[in-house]
Amino acid sequence: MPQLGLGSGGLEGKEGREAICTALRAGYRLIDTALFYRTETEIAAGMRMAGVKRDEVFLCTKVLQKAHAADAQVRDSLKESLRNLGTNYVDLYIIHNPRAGRIKEVWSLLLKLREEGLCKAVGVSNFGVAQLEGLRQAGLELPEVNQIEVHCWRQLPEVTAYHAQRGMQSA
Ligand SMILES: NC(=O)c1ccc[n+]([C@@H]2O[C@H](COP(=O)([O-])OP(=O)(O)OC[C@H]3O[C@@H](n4cnc5c(N)ncnc54)[C@H](OP(=O)(O)O)[C@@H]3O)[C@@H](O)[C@H]2O)c1
Repeated sequence: MPQLGLGSGGLEGKEGREAICTALRAGYRLIDTALFYRTETEIAAGMRMAGVKRDEVFLCTKVLQKAHAADAQVRDSLKESLRNLGTNYVDLYIIHNPRAGRIKEVWSLLLKLREEGLCKAVGVSNFGVAQLEGLRQAGLELPEVNQIEVHCWRQLPEVTAYHAQRGMQSA
C-alpha cells in the first residue's frame, strides 16, 4: 500500500475528476473513497483522463454504514462500489465505522469477500482498542488496516500501540 494517498471526500463533479486526474499525473497511486462519498465514478473518470491503468492504482473504498443491516446489503455495497469504480476488485475494502453495528458479522463477511477475490485486503476504520479486541476474542482474524485520524493535534497512543503490537497498519 503506498504511503501517500489522495482522500476523495468532497471531490465530486468536474472539479473532483480534474483533481483526481491531476493527482494521478503528479504521481499519486493511492486513492481513498467510500460509497458514502459519491466520488467513486469521479475516480474512474479521473483514471481514464490521466491514462492510468487499473493495476497501477491502489483503490480503497468502504462499506456503506446503513448496509450493515444485512449481509446481502454489505455484498451489494461492494458490488455497487465495483461498478462505480469500473473494476472487478478493490485493493482494500474497509468497514467505515463501527457505530453502524453488527461488527463481527460484517467483518466475517468481508473476510469471505476477500476469499472470493472481490477485494485483495480488508480492514476497518475508526475502530478503538475495545472493538479490535472484540474481534480478536471472537476468534476472528484481525484487520490488516485501521484507518484512523491521527496527526499532531490528535494522537491516539493506545490505538497505535495496539496496532504495533498486533502487526496492524494505521492508515
Ligand atoms: N474513514 C473515515 O471515517 C474518514 C473520515 C474523514 C476523512 N477520511 C479520509 O481522509 C480524507 C481527508 O479528510 P480530511 O478530513 O483531512 O479532509 P480535509 O481536512 O477537508 O482536507 C481535504 C484536503 O483536500 C484538499 N482539497 C479539497 N478540495 C480540493 C480540490 N478540489 N483540489 C485539490 N485539493 C483539494 C484541501 O486543500 P485545502 O487545504 O487547500 O483546502 C485539503 O488539503 C478524506 O477525503 C477521506 O478519504 C476518512
